[in-house]
Amino acid sequence: MDQELWTGVDGFIEAHLVPQDPALAAAMAASAAAGLPPIAVSAAHGKLLHLLARLVRAARILEVGTLGGYSAIWLARALVPGGRLVTLEVDPLRAEIASRNVSRAGLDSQVDIRIGAALDTLPALERERAGPFDLAFIDADKANNPAYIEWAVRLARPGTLIVVDNVVREGSILDAASADAAVRGTRRAYELVGAHPNLAATAIQTVGVKGYDGLLMALVTGAGPAA
Ligand code: SAH
Ligand code: DHB
Ligand code: MG
Repeated sequence: MDQELWTGVDGFIEAHLVPQDPALAAAMAASAAAGLPPIAVSAAHGKLLHLLARLVRAARILEVGTLGGYSAIWLARALVPGGRLVTLEVDPLRAEIASRNVSRAGLDSQVDIRIGAALDTLPALERERAGPFDLAFIDADKANNPAYIEWAVRLARPGTLIVVDNVVREGSILDAASADAAVRGTRRAYELVGAHPNLAATAIQTVGVKGYDGLLMALVTGAGPAA
């Protein structure tokens, strides 16, 4: 619609508020050189994730969908001392690129990249008692978003923040008859979160360098109806 303007404004926001960063720039460059798709969060949204993680004083972060590790680097840098981020990636090549990017950022000891379909690797996190996570960022195959949200709640505590990426999809989520698995999964995610007794949530629409999309944010509340 007004992509040029949104990209320009994201550039302005970055110029003022998101300083150039060699490790993040190198991660983007290495990801592109390896042929990874340019679908990482924007710099402005990476910084938002970072600030949210700082706000909740995160010591444990769960990420579903690593790609080249760009959002993982933003999030891991927000961890309190001794904190850990676990990130789940189905594609071994992507996990390898992410591992190199995380190393270059000096975050090896904070970031644990698990290779495999997230629905196969999440149960191990429960068995290992890797949680409770203070923040979960869900950004993988959108068809499975309802299952990922259920897992995030299972691995959470009251006060955990769950953030879900790509929940507006240029407005295509309004199409109840959509055959697109991503749209269907996203719509089911809204239904699940909206009806969940232990989640208080909203979503924001966003425009920017990555187009028109949005973020859903859900706070895990105590037992009983969510506020
Ligand atoms: N969070 C990243 C972008 C993730 S893109 C960032 O902002 O930097 C989505 C990623 O999810 C892709 O790398 C894709 O391979 C991965 N993915 C897709 N299906 C998955 C699954 N079932 N389990 C784990 N990861 C999956
Ligand atoms: C896609 C995935 C994402 O997580 C994103 O932010 C943008 C695009 C995709 O699979 O096309
Ligand atoms: Mg995304």
